[in-house]
Amino acid sequence: MKLRNIVFSTAALLAISSTAFAQFQNAEKAVDYRKSVFTVMGTHFARIGAVVKGEASYNKEDVAKNAAIVTMMSTLPWQAFGPGTEGGHAKSEIWSDNAKFKSAAEKMQLAVADLNKAAQSGDLDAIKKTFGAAGQACKSCHDDFKKK
Ligand code: HEC
Repeated sequence: MKLRNIVFSTAALLAISSTAFAQFQNAEKAVDYRKSVFTVMGTHFARIGAVVKGEASYNKEDVAKNAAIVTMMSTLPWQAFGPGTEGGHAKSEIWSDNAKFKSAAEKMQLAVADLNKAAQSGDLDAIKKTFGAAGQACKSCHDDFKKK
């Protein structure tokens, strides 16, 4: 094989194997991105939490807005856990047991979607219930995959 062909096929292989990560210049950018997403998601999730715990008064519109933001943000962190993006508080099990990590991510997105449905309909009892389930889904993944 001529050198040009080798260089070309290596580049093609790299392009295929790192598409999920290709949006990020390097691992550090991926870590920054997912931390930022989690921070925004956590902030808006906590605002709902304050209502659920009775620390803030219930306002349908505010909770609905916060839940919509959490729902949108819940879809974003996962693209930033591509191959070679170890770092931050991410445990190595994210990559060695990736199927379990992905399933925990899906579970949380479903739980958050339930919370969003309750928040949009303005049913406070349902908000409390679904918030608890979503919180469990966060905790369960953090227990397994996030360093303290
Ligand atoms: C499938 C796994 C998973 C789920 C589900 C999950 N997280 Fe995380 N979370 C992580 C990992 C891994 C990190 C560490 C990221 C890093 O440092 O690179 C993290 C970090 C965070 C951080 C810290 C960000 C920082 O600046 O270091 C917050 C806040 C957070 N998550 C909130 C939440 C909330 C709120 C939920 C639920 C609505 C949630 N997470 C659900 C895996 C998860």
